[in-house]
Amino acid sequence: MEKIIDIQHLNKSFGANEVLKDINFSVEKGEVVCIIGSSGSGKSTLLRCVNLLEKPSGGKILYHGENILDGSHDVYTHRAKLGMVFQQFNLFNNMNVLDNCTVGQIKVLKRSKEEAEKMAMKYLEVVGMDQYINAKPRQLSGGQKQRVAIARALSMEPDTMLFDEPTSALDPEMVGDVLEVMKELADTGLTMLVVTHEMDFARDVSDRVVFMDKGVIAEEGSPEDIFNNPKEERTREFLKRVLK
Ligand SMILES: Nc1ncnc2c1ncn2[C@@H]1O[C@H](COP(=O)(O)OP(=O)(O)OP(=O)(O)O)[C@@H](O)[C@H]1O
Ligand SMILES: [Mg+2]
Repeated sequence: MEKIIDIQHLNKSFGANEVLKDINFSVEKGEVVCIIGSSGSGKSTLLRCVNLLEKPSGGKILYHGENILDGSHDVYTHRAKLGMVFQQFNLFNNMNVLDNCTVGQIKVLKRSKEEAEKMAMKYLEVVGMDQYINAKPRQLSGGQKQRVAIARALSMEPDTMLFDEPTSALDPEMVGDVLEVMKELADTGLTMLVVTHEMDFARDVSDRVVFMDKGVIAEEGSPEDIFNNPKEERTREFLKRVLK
């Protein structure tokens, strides 16, 4: 299998606070990997290092075999290959749904307006938001905004999607729709790295689960390994807390 992301001995400190400590793991093409763990364990920081929103303090991140930390790598070219979906949607509030989904394509990928709109419509349909192209974000529910954010990311045709707790800010009744879209994407063979508190999603959809604790990967394995047969005491304790 082809490794898309290969993280080797990654470290990240904020001042004296060592947030990531010797992180090693990889993601293969087509894999869905979920990262779980307590608040403050470093999950978001790890994801943000992968698309260079944070600058790691040490180690390597190989993307298709190339170390993106070697200094010769253009941040924007790299970031265009990864779609990122955040907890807080981060849509442009002054733009309608369609423009939100075309602006990056036009500015970063230099696509024509027509091309960009065609691509945006394709993915707005995938997430069930093609009826809302003229709406402004404030006219949408949280779940709808998040589906637009997913369509916007997909419109860039990234080869990997990063999700950072995409359902944590949603009202409970909206969570299912967004998870359903993510599950459909997973089924298409898209490579996905997902930080989530949704344990059912991690168990049912992921190929592999990574459990982080205090800046280290405490355990990783198949959903079966992690949820039914965790080896580490701290994994068992975490699961006891989050699974009712
Ligand atoms: N920009 C920053 N400056 C300083 N410290 C930071 C910064 N970002 C994160 N941290 C610290 O890094 C640690 C890990 O934070 P991170 O956001 O990665 O955790 P997390 O696992 O995503 O938590 P949560 O589940 O609450 O989102 C925390 O101690 C946090 O305070
Ligand atoms: Mg986080």
